[in-house]
Amino acid sequence: MSPMPTPGPINEAPLRIEICKDGEDLARHAAGLFVALAGKALGARRQFTVALAGGRTPRRMYELLTEDHYAYQVVWPAVRIFWSDERCVAPDDGRSNYRMALETMLSKVKVPPGNIHRMKGEEDPASAAASCEKDLRDRFDGPPRIDLILLGMGTDGHVASLFPASPALEERESLVTVSRDPEGLARLTYTLPLINAARAVAILVSGEEKAPMLRRVLGAGARDEGLPVQRVRPADGQLIWLLDQAAGSTLESPHA
Ligand code: 6PG
Repeated sequence: MSPMPTPGPINEAPLRIEICKDGEDLARHAAGLFVALAGKALGARRQFTVALAGGRTPRRMYELLTEDHYAYQVVWPAVRIFWSDERCVAPDDGRSNYRMALETMLSKVKVPPGNIHRMKGEEDPASAAASCEKDLRDRFDGPPRIDLILLGMGTDGHVASLFPASPALEERESLVTVSRDPEGLARLTYTLPLINAARAVAILVSGEEKAPMLRRVLGAGARDEGLPVQRVRPADGQLIWLLDQAAGSTLESPHA
């Protein structure tokens, strides 16, 4: 078994790109980041707010966080869990991001149920987005600033449920809105103003099918095409890319 990274001093660089050996290594780095940022937030503000991502990449990270090595380092009762997006389906639907996080992590750690703020995918999408936004605003003094927002990236450059050319990308006022995926399913999603207000945003990317898009957005000669992932630019926070070798190995010279 390879050694698990123990969170050390936090690297506070505004942009970090880490290429991990494989999916397992990526999950360990992501779990280590969660633990480190939780400790930092708890020290400063006595709570840690985190928005989880759906998709396949963060699953292993969530599982690892339930293992003793990581779980013992987190003060779970002080963690508040949100989601960066959700499919408009019931919480027990196999496509639900809430269900994935519940099964892999939340049912196994001591986060109080009142600290789990799921997006209500089963309700009318516009009202669910509005109540999700109200819930967020109620939790923060001033504009919501989440400690860690986790995102994945699609092969088309989407993040959360902000798809290329979606009107949701242009939202400037609302923090949570309704969008639609390419298959036509309604989704609830954080908007760019909320994402870019975070203290830290981590984009987890794995698999060789992501390599072409990563080259397009991070490779030498990358230009701003206005793709959703390129519009993730925390105004006063960190942007951390965690890539596996398959996704990131062909980046010649990563740059901002
Ligand atoms: C979701 C997210 C989506 C996801 C990316 C990457 O599926 O819930 O909306 O943005 O993070 O599509 O997904 P993978 O990790 O499965 O590649």
